[in-house]
Amino acid sequence: MDFVRVEREGDVAVLTIDRQEKLNALNPQVTEEIGQALLDLESEELRAIIVTGAGERAFVAGADIAAMNEMSPLEAKRFAEISNASMALLDRSPIPTIAAVNGYALGGGCEVALACDIRVAAENASFGFPEVGLGILPGMGGTQRLPRLIGPALAKELIFTGRRISAEEAKDIGLVNRVVPQGEALSAAKDIAAEISANGPLAVRHAKAAANRSLDVDLVSGLEYETDQFSLLFSTEDAKEGMGAFIEKRKPQFKGQ
Ligand code: COA
Repeated sequence: MDFVRVEREGDVAVLTIDRQEKLNALNPQVTEEIGQALLDLESEELRAIIVTGAGERAFVAGADIAAMNEMSPLEAKRFAEISNASMALLDRSPIPTIAAVNGYALGGGCEVALACDIRVAAENASFGFPEVGLGILPGMGGTQRLPRLIGPALAKELIFTGRRISAEEAKDIGLVNRVVPQGEALSAAKDIAAEISANGPLAVRHAKAAANRSLDVDLVSGLEYETDQFSLLFSTEDAKEGMGAFIEKRKPQFKGQ
């Protein structure tokens, strides 16, 4: 792969988008490589995937404008489809995904972050959807995931104005989970991954599936799904271990079984 690299630290994988001379902008090859890297990780026993951008300046400065400027409508459709397939591998991944936003997260960059479960931002990070200023619109899930995350009114304001916001403002509106000093986004994401890793792997997986379901279905159906996931976990050794360890006043040793 030319623009994506994956490093493993124990049971956490760090996927870095690395196209620094273009501030990690996403052309079709980059989004395809993101998808391929995520598919490759699916067979591994991981507890979290962290996504970040190479260098100090950008997480991802958006879809590649020069590449899009050359696209026919059909090529644009294909680009959006491939990109959306890659984004879906992040939010539909059975394990938690965390965006470590280390700089500009604009347009497609913001959309990569939105496809992750959790977002950590360095204080120099900025967020925005400049697409309408280019005569296009967010095409990697932004119009769908942003309203679900921060509500339609604020989402529409950001998408219609293209205004860029700071990491702090992004935190205030619920777009990012936490803001950390410059240079510390990746280590903060690793800290969250370590907290997740201490818990039952199957419990976290099923909790993610249930939380994801809440975004797709009505409350009654979502609660039924939650009940199914909840009761299913009672068939696992991890549930016996976790609850038993509490009663025996010791730390649980989860096996993912
Ligand atoms: N697509 C293609 N190339 C991009 C890009 C993008 N989204 N974002 C940055 N680049 C390229 C620049 O063209 C420049 O390339 P060059 O050195 O060959 O000219 C390089 O990355 C560095 O960017 P530059 O604009 O010189 O940096 P800056 O610090 O002056 O500005 C930004 C940084 C992020 C504010 C600015 O690059 C920008 O506005 N980018 C586009 C953001 C955008 O609209 N994203 C949504 C696209 S749908």
